[in-house]
Amino acid sequence: MKRAKITIIGAGNVGATCAHWAASKELGDIYLVDIVEGLPQGKALDLYEASPVEGFDARIVGLNSYEETADSDVVVITSGIARKPGMSRDDLMATNVKIVAEVTRSVIEHSPNTILIVVSNPLDAMVYTAWKVSGFPTNRVLGQAGVLDVARYRSFIAAEVGCSVEDVSALLLGGHGDDMVPLPRLTSVGGVPVSQLIPAGRLEDIVTRARNGGAEIVGLLKTGSAYYAPASATIAMVESIVRDKKRVLPCAAHCDSEYGVGGYFVGVPCILGSGGVEKVIEVELEPKEREMFNASVEHVKELSAATEKLLAG
Ligand code: NAI
Ligand code: 2OP
Repeated sequence: MKRAKITIIGAGNVGATCAHWAASKELGDIYLVDIVEGLPQGKALDLYEASPVEGFDARIVGLNSYEETADSDVVVITSGIARKPGMSRDDLMATNVKIVAEVTRSVIEHSPNTILIVVSNPLDAMVYTAWKVSGFPTNRVLGQAGVLDVARYRSFIAAEVGCSVEDVSALLLGGHGDDMVPLPRLTSVGGVPVSQLIPAGRLEDIVTRARNGGAEIVGLLKTGSAYYAPASATIAMVESIVRDKKRVLPCAAHCDSEYGVGGYFVGVPCILGSGGVEKVIEVELEPKEREMFNASVEHVKELSAATEKLLAG
């Protein structure tokens, strides 16, 4: 069977850790690209040298150009600057629009049929950038945010209840982090509604912690932002696509009539398979949830308008 070809742009913390998770799961051959000479080559070689110990088979190649990435099945874009303490995701906008636009042009020149998963921040604007620049159909462009935000939320709930993380099931909608829309009524632990296990006030604290999960890690690291959980979340999406698992994962996906969004990328549950975003699943929202969702969409619209201006300039 032909191995999937997975290209990861940006060999920094998130990109290299994506390569690590993808290799350890034997998802395919991995092409790691960065502008810094030697960085992707060194990380790719180091990771490849771990393969006999870990027992995974994968070709892992480090590159400073795109020719060898040709005909990738999936391309993950992590290139760009990351947050430092005191910065919001939106502060990264002007720099990262340029980087993501330039990278997208190079990627699609060699892989016109690929599926693009964007990770660079501010996520909702960067996925819009990749879509605009690529001209790809909406099923082949998506962003990673929701899988990470839900993972943070699930892990905090498991710690609170004292149960396995595997048994916490949850869904969040909307933009990344600060903008996320929690749906506690759809959160359960082993099938039991979370409201029966955690008092409302305490659950609210957990939601707030998940919302600020990125800033919490930035505050601790001081020199950059999170990467283990973001990379793990991204590779769950890659896995669902290259193995055609059709998992239901919260992704930044293009919504037009869906949720009445009108043509923007917003965090919603999606079926991910070999066709990329194969379906956006619509959840019936209660009035308060709808209000929060609409506020989140408004912020995405503002970011997308700012992106348009930067792309035009
Ligand atoms: P990093 O600084 O460790 O790595 C970024 C890499 O991109 C660097 O190696 C840099 O040389 C490379 N790069 C810059 N311009 C490039 C170009 N034109 N072509 C190829 N490579 C280029 O940063 P880190 O921690 O890996 O974060 C990357 C991005 O992902 C940031 O924007 C960060 O905010 C975002 N992020 C998003 C998350 C999400 O959930 N959506 C979670 C975590 C990070
Ligand atoms: C995070 O949530 C920085 O977006 C990144 O950790």
